[in-house]
Amino acid sequence: MSEPQAIYLSDYQPPAYQVTRTELTFELDPHATRVRARLHLERHEDQGQGEALVLNGEHLTTLELAIDGQTLKDDEYRIENERLTIFRVPERFVLDTEVEIDPAANTALEGLYVSGSMFCTQCEPEGFRRITWYPDRPDVMATFETTIIGDREQLPVMLSNGNPVEWGELPDGRHFVTWQDPHPKPSYLFALVAGELEKLEDRFTTMSGREVTLQLWVEARNTDKTEWAMESLKRAMRWDEQAYGREYDLDRFMIVAVDDFNMGAMENKGLNIFNSAAVLANPATTTDAAFQRIDTIVAHEYFHNWSGNRVTCRDWFQLALKEGFTVFRDQSYTEDTQSAAVARIQNVAMLRTAQFAEDAGPTAHPVRPDHFIEISNFYTLTIYEKGAEVVRMLRNLVGPETFRRGSDRYFERFDGQAVRVEDFVATMAEVSGLDLDQFMRWYSQAGTPQLSVQGEYDATARQYHLTIAQHTPATPGQPDKQPLHIPVRMGLLGPDGASLELVVNGESHGTDTVLALQQERQSWTFEQLDVAPVPSLLRGFSAPVQLDYNWSRDDLALLMRFDEDGFNRWDGGQRLALAALEDMMVAWRANESMKLDGRLIEAWRGLLNSPTDDRAVLAEMLRLPTEAWIAEQQSVVDVDAIHAAREAAISQLADNLYVDFERTYHANQLDAPYAPTPEQIAARSLKNVALGYMVATGEREPLMLAQAQFEADHNMTDVRAALTLLAHSDASELGDPAIRAFGERWAHDPLVMDQWFATQVTRPQQDVMERLKFLMEHQAFSLKNPNRVRALIGTFVNSNRVNFHRIDGEGYRLLADVVIELNQLNPEIAARMVTPLTRFRRFDEQRQRLMRAELERIRQEPLSRNLYEVVAKALAD
Ligand code: TRP
Ligand code: ZN
Repeated sequence: MSEPQAIYLSDYQPPAYQVTRTELTFELDPHATRVRARLHLERHEDQGQGEALVLNGEHLTTLELAIDGQTLKDDEYRIENERLTIFRVPERFVLDTEVEIDPAANTALEGLYVSGSMFCTQCEPEGFRRITWYPDRPDVMATFETTIIGDREQLPVMLSNGNPVEWGELPDGRHFVTWQDPHPKPSYLFALVAGELEKLEDRFTTMSGREVTLQLWVEARNTDKTEWAMESLKRAMRWDEQAYGREYDLDRFMIVAVDDFNMGAMENKGLNIFNSAAVLANPATTTDAAFQRIDTIVAHEYFHNWSGNRVTCRDWFQLALKEGFTVFRDQSYTEDTQSAAVARIQNVAMLRTAQFAEDAGPTAHPVRPDHFIEISNFYTLTIYEKGAEVVRMLRNLVGPETFRRGSDRYFERFDGQAVRVEDFVATMAEVSGLDLDQFMRWYSQAGTPQLSVQGEYDATARQYHLTIAQHTPATPGQPDKQPLHIPVRMGLLGPDGASLELVVNGESHGTDTVLALQQERQSWTFEQLDVAPVPSLLRGFSAPVQLDYNWSRDDLALLMRFDEDGFNRWDGGQRLALAALEDMMVAWRANESMKLDGRLIEAWRGLLNSPTDDRAVLAEMLRLPTEAWIAEQQSVVDVDAIHAAREAAISQLADNLYVDFERTYHANQLDAPYAPTPEQIAARSLKNVALGYMVATGEREPLMLAQAQFEADHNMTDVRAALTLLAHSDASELGDPAIRAFGERWAHDPLVMDQWFATQVTRPQQDVMERLKFLMEHQAFSLKNPNRVRALIGTFVNSNRVNFHRIDGEGYRLLADVVIELNQLNPEIAARMVTPLTRFRRFDEQRQRLMRAELERIRQEPLSRNLYEVVAKALAD
């Protein structure tokens, strides 16, 4: 294979020809689907004078090409390198093509493919070119009319975007339906689904009184798992009207659940397609966390109807324009409808472990990349999560009311257009009057900014001087960085924990303010202070940065108890725990006994004994920093020390606070029937955290409680928590039968079997590697299904760090073998799965050598563009 070439943002050219109308006819057949396309094309006003027409196509067998009814002769076109070039075309013309494709052989799950007994599509970002010849780029927007022809028995339901306008019977047991989508759209939003599906139907009346039919289509075996997503959809539709003034714009909105799907879900106009794991739920099979994730994803895809569909991206470099904004919108929805503090804590915890790690690794890229080889590789935490943080900073800088005026103007002005990040930011600058030029660097500079903060109290002047310096480390291709515009929300606490008034230049700012850091180094002076304050910095995680300040442990304990900002209370606790864990890692390396700082134990005792009305936050506060986050703080990651220290800390907390955990466990038992309400979720979360600590004492009694909870079979959240504790314990006489019973009971349900896989491969003991290999042969496992791969392999490599990083390299070898197979089957998933190996520079020399050797082995293969790009970046010096 020839070396794949990069594409550059700076090379962007508007399309020479626009498609104004696209008419498609599909004759569905698993191995030989015929696609006829009639494209109405027009030369772009001031582009393309005399230019050839160039269309994209991959894996197509071309049967017919005609312009204005005239079949093209061999010398009038060329097909080469996945491109069709037609040398001479008129100003305005109709192009007719017919191709044959093989959906059943499509294991990449891009374009039209078969999942179980269904046909379905995934066109974002560049899958439409696997369906027909097309200018497959988001700045070409056409209305679509789609006719689907299929077997009446096997494919009774056939769906596409928009509204059905005609249907009927055909000879040979076939039928047809024609769909029209009146909204011009890019090809990536096209969708088609056909199969034996059943629906849950509901209605929604929009704020202007328009009646919308809502349909959720699933296979018959899943009809008992549709209610929750429908509730979420209606909640999201109402929220978008209230929070953003956005109304739905078609007569029907459909969601379809599909078992084989590369990502979470897809926002195709009027016909969202979902990974079944991201939409199907019921209390017996689904945990609270999954209920919440589904709620978020349903909302996310729905919100794309405006942020992405009505206003779309000019080119794929602008991906964060739709994804960052839409993630920000779904986060705001979750904050408004669940526990706001917990939502923020969980999002930030993910961002600053996984996204910060991406920013520090070989695939680091800006929120708006300036080049790529394979755009599918850029559906990353940086685009989605950091992209959302950038929008959040904008809202915090301009204020919520102005932000709303800005979003209203953005949607109105750019409706029906394909636009750039600049258009969004310029609209915010316009409504606010703020200069956002420097802010734009957030989109172009990769890497996580580091803030170093110093505080100095001057008792005679009664002043506190705060100095903040910023520095963004070099990332691949970006050695030098410019200072960013960083909002730092902060406050000051007195020694008794009271919030102090912030007086700057004689003017009071209350007890909470935002500092705009714009230079490399900047100072602020707070006046009229009678005591040395403890600073509370970066409240609510006001910017996606790594912040260093030398708090004492007593300061951290104070912040944890008293800070008026819920996020910083949690963060104070995490930083205190991190400091305590560092002592223990030092002791572990010196082969000394690891003793947990008594201040942490006392701080937690305080937490467990003070009345709280936010049990969800309490449960979060009682979790130690994850191994992944501890690793982020180290220059050379010491996997074994991290694990040993963390386990020792858990067991010492458990021993010292047993009665408190026990009381908490019993106090949070619920008798009520299961409901995924914030109150119930909080109680279960707290109860199961407590049970986890109780089991960590190694006593028999809590294991018996876990077994009883498992057998009570009240809901999947409690069952799964109990099963995990049993399966991870050394008491195999309890763990093994529980695993067996669960596996037998749920053998028919792949989504529950995914949980069964994940539970087993997170077992911390060494024997897990044999278990993993055994499970890869299990009949419920398949490398062709991304959910299975993520549940079994993904969970192991990402959530069982001590065993994946085993010093004999067994974990690395296993992952490389899997990646090599996936490279053939599903390049998109292969390129995602290889990520942990690409981070080898973070580890000790021996592990580096082993991981690098596996990457070299992968590189010997004939690589897909996806995997080539990631592996080449990882191995570049
Ligand atoms: N746009 C989808 C989202 O809501 C992302 C997505 C779904 C996707 N399926 C995909 C991206 C396949 C790449 C490939 O975030
Ligand atoms: Zn999205």
